[in-house]
Amino acid sequence: MGRRATAVLISGSGSNLQALLEAARDPAYPARIELVVSNRPDAFGLERARRARVPAAVVDHRAYESREAFEAALEEELRLAGIELVCLAGFMRILTPAMCARWRDRMLNIHPSLLPAYRGLHTHARVLADGAAVTGCTVHFVRPELDAGPILVQGVVPVLPGDDPERLARRVLEIEHRCYPRALALLATGRVRVEGERVRIEDERPGERLLVHPALGRLEVDPAAPETAAR
Ligand code: GRF
Repeated sequence: MGRRATAVLISGSGSNLQALLEAARDPAYPARIELVVSNRPDAFGLERARRARVPAAVVDHRAYESREAFEAALEEELRLAGIELVCLAGFMRILTPAMCARWRDRMLNIHPSLLPAYRGLHTHARVLADGAAVTGCTVHFVRPELDAGPILVQGVVPVLPGDDPERLARRVLEIEHRCYPRALALLATGRVRVEGERVRIEDERPGERLLVHPALGRLEVDPAAPETAAR
């Protein structure tokens, strides 16, 4: 199987796009980023695409009278570029069930929490408000329900003392940038099947679908852990 033609859909900074572009620079990587589409003309990710010499298009949702018309224009860009796989990376438009169906099991999204916990916006503030000790990110197949769908890869990140939403977001982004290239590579090699809304990976090796932030690894060997300290 050749390298799979992939589009990345963005609305903003595009740091996950950057991670995918960098991974795909390796000729051995099983996907090629052939197209970047933004629904916002001012998205910084468009500049990242330009620097990487990857074709980029703007399909501004405000120029269309309906969601269907917007998606028809989007689909036309994907068709013209011969796109086989789609990665949503900070793409802030909800897709219709019809578009989700057309790209079923060929479209991924990344979400900054350990799904199914913390769907929706402001995940980091909610994690902190709940006092959770751990959070992370999830790459999953897209379904019509928001931030739902078969889970492909997850990354785990500790919540640390003194975190605020911005600091936690930065730590989660570090693991996002490793998870998304891993997930796309798994999908593009054709080893992934979705069976009964669960992901199965052919000849799966332990840890292939799980990445751990280095800060968590360091905590595990912390000699000052309270349960081992002198009483
Ligand atoms: C990421 O946190 C991603 O999980 C969420 O939106 C953010 C996009 O960041 N869906 P970037 O544009 O990739 O930097």
